Amino acid sequence: MESYMLRWGEMPFKIISKKKLAEKIKMIEIEAPLVARSAMPGQFVIIRVDQRGERIPLTIVDWNPSRGTITLVFREIGLTTMKLGRRRVGEEILDVVGPLGNPSQVLNYDRVCMIGEGVRISSLYPRLKYLKKCGSHTVVIAYAKSGDEIIMEDEISRLSDEYYVVTSDGTRGFKGTAAITLHNLLKESKMKVEVVLAVGSPLMLRSIAAVTKRYQIRTIADLSPIMLDGLGMCGCCRVIVGNEVKFACIDGPEFDAHLVDYDNLISRMKMYRSEEQLSLKIHMGG
Ligand SMILES: Cc1cc2nc3c(=O)[nH]c(=O)nc-3n(C[C@H](O)[C@H](O)[C@H](O)COP(=O)(O)OP(=O)(O)OC[C@H]3O[C@@H](n4cnc5c(N)ncnc54)[C@H](O)[C@@H]3O)c2cc1C
Ligand code: FES
Repeated sequence: MESYMLRWGEMPFKIISKKKLAEKIKMIEIEAPLVARSAMPGQFVIIRVDQRGERIPLTIVDWNPSRGTITLVFREIGLTTMKLGRRRVGEEILDVVGPLGNPSQVLNYDRVCMIGEGVRISSLYPRLKYLKKCGSHTVVIAYAKSGDEIIMEDEISRLSDEYYVVTSDGTRGFKGTAAITLHNLLKESKMKVEVVLAVGSPLMLRSIAAVTKRYQIRTIADLSPIMLDGLGMCGCCRVIVGNEVKFACIDGPEFDAHLVDYDNLISRMKMYRSEEQLSLKIHMGG
């Protein structure tokens, strides 16, 4: 696999287009030709909006080597994603480093179920595009708290052989959780798959893993721990998988969902919550 590390400030990463997908969820297309040339489904970039900004990881949702662009989809949740959301078309962001992480493990399977939660539904898109080209059978469960958070519906449903929407408030599709829906589909033998991939909160990943363990289906969790350098050096993204310490940026971000220590992941993700809230207050008055 070819991988590029861009030197800081090597080229401007100009925003080419921008679209609001839902409340606080935006899609941007950025000039990043070297990343666009070598990205694979499941990989991510680490971006920095400006000199004083933090580095944050975002999944590469789409890429176009001939235009030299990549597409990112993000929820404005804290300081960096809010700053990114305020950047206009034609403006630049400081750094885009990638592609980082390993390509998705689902790419070689013939019958795949993928589950995405909220903004991370977008992460399923590049995997689906790839699987569709290979002729695989794809089942998607798009889960969000409310119907208006089900994003990229046209693009994703078009590539899915089976497409289910689930919302916790029942405003769209099945009412309930992604895990209950998965359980019902498996119980009714409606769904025959070799592998399940899930991306979203650790709580959702844990409940999906509990369901598939019962049915003995190989399950992959796409983890989102806090990351800093993305290079396996800072140790920020440490996760425990099958009692072994792994670094999600270089060993993942996908791992065997039945072996992940979710309690450890949840507590590490909350580690900087008070600093994050303070930083938001200072810079955005939020
Ligand atoms: C491999 C990977 C891919 C991701 N892809 C996407 C994506 O495509 N779209 C999307 O909206 N989000 C994605 N995330 C999550 C995204 O990185 C965080 O939402 C973002 O870092 C929040 O930063 P903030 O400054 O806006 O918010 P903050 O207020 O700093 O943080 C809010 C919460 O986001 C998480 N977070 C904060 N900093 C980081 C960090 N450096 N690395 C990881 N998580 C962090 C923490 O759980 C924190 O409590 C991904 C995370 C990982 C690890
Ligand atoms: S982000 Fe630093 S080791 Fe993974």
